[in-house]
Amino acid sequence: MEDSLIHTFREIYQCFPEVYSSAPGRINVIGEHTDYNLGYVLPSAIHLRTYFLAARRKDRTVRVWANNFNQEQSFSIDELNSGGKKGWIDYIKGIYWVLKVKGIPLGGIDALVHGNVPLGSGLSSSAAYEVSVINALDELYSLEIAPLEMAELGQKAENDFVGVQCGLMDQFISVFGQKNRAVFLDCEKLEFAYIPLRLDKGRLSILVYDTGIKRKLASSEYNKRRLESAEAIRILKKSGVENYKNLKLRSLVEREGDLKEILFKRARHVVTENERVQQAVSALQKDDFRKLGDLLFQSHESLRDDYEVSCPELDLLYECGKGFPSCLGARLTGAGFGGSGIALVRKEEIPAFKRMLLDKAKQSGYPQPLFHEVDIGDGKKIHRCQLD
Ligand code: GLA
Repeated sequence: MEDSLIHTFREIYQCFPEVYSSAPGRINVIGEHTDYNLGYVLPSAIHLRTYFLAARRKDRTVRVWANNFNQEQSFSIDELNSGGKKGWIDYIKGIYWVLKVKGIPLGGIDALVHGNVPLGSGLSSSAAYEVSVINALDELYSLEIAPLEMAELGQKAENDFVGVQCGLMDQFISVFGQKNRAVFLDCEKLEFAYIPLRLDKGRLSILVYDTGIKRKLASSEYNKRRLESAEAIRILKKSGVENYKNLKLRSLVEREGDLKEILFKRARHVVTENERVQQAVSALQKDDFRKLGDLLFQSHESLRDDYEVSCPELDLLYECGKGFPSCLGARLTGAGFGGSGIALVRKEEIPAFKRMLLDKAKQSGYPQPLFHEVDIGDGKKIHRCQLD
């Protein structure tokens, strides 16, 4: 891969790239829609990555070749307006924009982007892209941006430039991911711990089930959930609740009358999901994959019924998982509304499970799903290219 991308770069720009940067997509093991509610999440980086190769130019033009689309676009760094656009070039503009707002002077670049994180499928292709770009600029211009700040800048580009009000989870894991580990992150304190994810010990794999439903409505519905859960906690704070993280289900139920039904359901998801993340961490520390699997099923139920971010295609994964003895757990991963789900399945039974899902999807008239057996991989990487 590396050689062929460098080769393409040289063909286009007639020079070597100076840096070769990459950053991964992710699965979220558990802890969904809790990051922007300042709760707990437990994501892992996966082996699918976005690659960004770049060399400095002497002028202020950013010229980029998108290898997946066979397309070139360019812009001038003096003409950056945040505009809520979501073309592939806008993510790079967004990163230039956040660095400019931070007062960091940058010059133009020639660049090539290539990714194998499937786009719009809930595996966080945008964060992988943003982090791969910041990581490259950091090295090219010796910016020495701290890792946490890299994640925050990626999030800011997505929030304020691209216009999606995402939390920090995706960019965070793309920066901090480690092979065969999940990251237990407290999104309020921004403290984290690595938790072993030794699936081989249980002869298990994580199967990603990509529904093929692109998350069209996702950003508006996502932003709506965000507002609803914020409204619920605002009301709960009036009766002495400190935050979601410290709220027990029992106390929430006592305050049910203070909230409209929909807000109560949103809050119940956040409270129970935070609890499940903590239980999942304990289960993983004991390699108790049965317990982990149960928690995944429960998480899906809560996302489907209380947070209402599932869809029939994702529910199909959950239902098939429940009816398949070698599937220990399954749930939607990421924002929902289409995209992907994950299932924890005994390795040798994966082909049979895939067949079942394909048959059921066909019978139900759903698009044919795609599958990825993911390895838990490392976070961002960078190196300088050797001239030969
Ligand atoms: C998207 C966002 C994340 C997070 C998840 C839901 O992936 O980018 O910040 O909110 O949805 O858990």
